[in-house]
Amino acid sequence: MHIRSLLSQRIEAAFTNLGLSGQALLQTASRPEFGDYQANGVMAAAKRAGKNPREVAQAVIDVTDLDGIASNLAVAGPGFINVTLAPQFIANAATAPQPSPNPQRVVVDYSGPNLAKEMHVGHLRSTIIGDCIARVLESLGHTVIRQNHVGDWGTQFGMLLTFMVEQGATSDSLADLENFYRQAKQRFDTDEDFQGRSRQAVVQLQSGDAAMLVQWQRFIEISMSHCQALYDRLGIDLTNADMDGESSYNDDLKATVDHINGQGLLTESDGAQCIFLDEFKNKEGEVQPVIVQKSDGGYLYSTSDLACLRRRIGDFKADRVLYFVDARQALHFKQVFAVAEAAGISNPSVELAHMPFGTMLGKDNKPFKTREGALVKLSELLDEAIARATKLLQDREVQSKNPDIDDAELADLAEIIGIGAVKYADLSKNRTSDYVFDWDQMLSFDGNTAPYLLYAYSRTRSIFTRGEVDLSALPERVVTENEAERRLAVAIAGYQDLLEQVAQEGYPHQLCAYLYELAGRFTQFYEQCPILTSNYATKTRRLTLTKQTGDVLANGLTLLGIRVAERM
Ligand code: ARG
Repeated sequence: MHIRSLLSQRIEAAFTNLGLSGQALLQTASRPEFGDYQANGVMAAAKRAGKNPREVAQAVIDVTDLDGIASNLAVAGPGFINVTLAPQFIANAATAPQPSPNPQRVVVDYSGPNLAKEMHVGHLRSTIIGDCIARVLESLGHTVIRQNHVGDWGTQFGMLLTFMVEQGATSDSLADLENFYRQAKQRFDTDEDFQGRSRQAVVQLQSGDAAMLVQWQRFIEISMSHCQALYDRLGIDLTNADMDGESSYNDDLKATVDHINGQGLLTESDGAQCIFLDEFKNKEGEVQPVIVQKSDGGYLYSTSDLACLRRRIGDFKADRVLYFVDARQALHFKQVFAVAEAAGISNPSVELAHMPFGTMLGKDNKPFKTREGALVKLSELLDEAIARATKLLQDREVQSKNPDIDDAELADLAEIIGIGAVKYADLSKNRTSDYVFDWDQMLSFDGNTAPYLLYAYSRTRSIFTRGEVDLSALPERVVTENEAERRLAVAIAGYQDLLEQVAQEGYPHQLCAYLYELAGRFTQFYEQCPILTSNYATKTRRLTLTKQTGDVLANGLTLLGIRVAERM
């Protein structure tokens, strides 16, 4: 049910009646005393009409038709309208989310590690944020085309392949890619002959030399298998089938530059092929070029992203292309989108969006590193998460509370909580800001954390176990009878709106904040409303609310890519 748009329509109809113009701007209320939803658009509409906002708000309330939808409308503050929903309306609204009536084809570009090196924490954010949005889009019936734009091409591979051949390297010596890279780099920096052979290898690779390609393929497969192991551990929905790396555009680069040239957009500058667009001026007001081919004939990162857009729009028929990439690449994407638009590679009916994210910081507010200053390996980070979660569970004496939880189940729980905590800590922060990675915060059972939500879910399930409830016999809808029940049902009913907002804007923290609010309302309901000891009608009603809460919590956590446990 689309509650926000329904309320907006009705209030905007009242605007029209009163000769006002503007949007009602409905938000979910941030505090119980503000009702369930708050219309924030009245002030602007009143101002435009030169009228007193509170008087306008009252006039709007007097003529708004919300019969059967709201039980109360009230003027608040400088001219907000607080809306309290009617119980019989909520009963119909609290249903499972419905698919979008306008399904789209959405390319989600995420993860994109550089295969020359080991995947590090910098790619963690892209991986889990992108994965979440892909899941949310899919759950609303959109066709999602996952694209892992790995860095599998370029000059570093000349050095790595030369070193690999020289060492007769096997998958064993590539087991520690970081180390392998360091050794190769050292060799490259200290040996001129090696350097020459490395450069030669790049030329061979780019000209399609069969023997070199075999070596390259071997390297990529081993490096990619490291990433895949991490994806599997993290529960990320990416496979080799989603991998369209930079190398896959190699054969399209020349055609892409030719196409741009055909549009009359190319200018040669110092031997390089450039596009000058008015919107890219420096401080001095001079137009800065976007380079698509260097003077030595080589192509650039932006060239492959332009070739890539030809595939995504031309072949994949994308309606939207969403890039979950570090905020530091903002200018790159601005340029690529602008050139694509100017060259007719894209068109205004396609949405191209860079969904940037900030840096993960250590407690010292500096980019997350080990004590020795090295980049933190993701696999080690996850090992530590699980170790800490195990300790947490032991301290909570889960087993003494639930004697039939055996060691295997406990180990599984530790994995769910450990991995879930790392993912949730990231997803729950507004992605555009940097955030501080803090073990104690993310593994706390209090606050907006994975353990808190996982526990809230397991609590809904334990009620059914204790009451030996037949879930299939519960009614689908409930008319709520007290305020705690009503507020819980309102939160459940808002799930559809929330998912659509997340699908549109690409901010997972909105889903986290929603689930946290829902769990909070469930706690209040649980404290105020006895369930299993109540009479049949009350018990049935409350069990249905409990089931609906649990369903939304489980669904939401799954969309965040977090596995749930039935008990803990
Ligand atoms: N491999 C790139 C990096 O590590 C990220 C790729 C992002 N996607 C894209 N289409 N450019 O910076």
